[in-house]
Amino acid sequence: MTKDDLHTPALIVDLEAFESNLTKMASHVRERGLGFRPHAKTHKCPEIARAQIAAGAQGICTAKLSEAEVFAEHGIRGLLITTAVIGKRKIERALRLAAAAPDTIFVVDHEENARELSEAALAEKTRLDVALDLYVGNRTGITPGQPAVELAQKIARMPGLTFQGLQAYAGHASHTVTFAKRREVSQEAMGKAVETRCLLEKAGFEVHLLSGGSTGTYNIDTEIDGITELQPGSFIFMDVDYARIGSQDGSEKYTDFASALTVLTTVVSRPEPRKAIVDAGLKAFSTDKPWAPEAKNVTGLKYFFAGDEHGRIDFSEAERELKVGDRLEFVIPHCDPSVNLYDRLYAVRGDKVEAVWTIAARGRSQ
Ligand SMILES: Cc1ncc(COP(=O)(O)O)c(C=O)c1O
Repeated sequence: MTKDDLHTPALIVDLEAFESNLTKMASHVRERGLGFRPHAKTHKCPEIARAQIAAGAQGICTAKLSEAEVFAEHGIRGLLITTAVIGKRKIERALRLAAAAPDTIFVVDHEENARELSEAALAEKTRLDVALDLYVGNRTGITPGQPAVELAQKIARMPGLTFQGLQAYAGHASHTVTFAKRREVSQEAMGKAVETRCLLEKAGFEVHLLSGGSTGTYNIDTEIDGITELQPGSFIFMDVDYARIGSQDGSEKYTDFASALTVLTTVVSRPEPRKAIVDAGLKAFSTDKPWAPEAKNVTGLKYFFAGDEHGRIDFSEAERELKVGDRLEFVIPHCDPSVNLYDRLYAVRGDKVEAVWTIAARGRSQ
């Protein structure tokens, strides 16, 4: 099968770029003696998780319990669920997951939730591994420092839980534009996590885990002493949003990782001069930012969203006409939520479709 055989819109991963991104991140982390637990919220795909583990990852992160369930069913181990599992029903599922994949780590940031997890584990005569989720300026978590130490001390007294360490995700740092500013924001955020680790060690805790980092801060966070592993996600695919954060050498474009993910579209109508309509709109590209999809390998095209199923292409500055039936490939504005729109991912080398990967955890947002 070649790309020409694919029905559009189709989600495409360029294997050469994907493999080079994976090798680059895995070796960067390995050479600095750190662990690697990439975030699978980006791809939701067991084949990619297996490729990441083959490249040296000790497991994967998932954002949600339901994603973790899918990966566990596919035999993936070393799961870290990066958001807390809240409520009785979900805790029951967490226990079932831990029975199937006993090295799964759950995060907690609240005493009551930790107690519920502990009681549920005790009732099953088991223990759950937990890490404290630290609020380092982004979204969730317990306040670093003394509040975190106090929660860890309470967890240590809960017989159904085993304290493993810390998670700190500085999502506000990852897309900070310019490397210098990004370094400042990440060092400040992750510094709080490292300080908390030191306080915990002084209080007698063994902190096996301090997991954090992202595609935008990977080479900043590996220079911070005390972080044990990185959990970047987008680096395997990249997107329009990440390409604009700026590189360490001062250039505007972030070129550390190659653009590997595109949507292949077809021109389906030519309603006006120098305008064409493609078969990919809001249901083909998720967008939470002002950036539009960007044409790959063609200059002078501008994409505008034209509804759920369509995109309008202005090609008045392009060197050639567009005809009905032409194929156009676009780089995605934001990779994670766009992948979640597709059942499968076509893995291509050049024009040849080498594999079709199922996005098995697609839609698993519970
Ligand atoms: C908790 C957590 N860790 C890591 C990541 C990976 O970040 P990135 O895709 O920027 O590498 C995310 C992404 O949203 C996340 O939510």
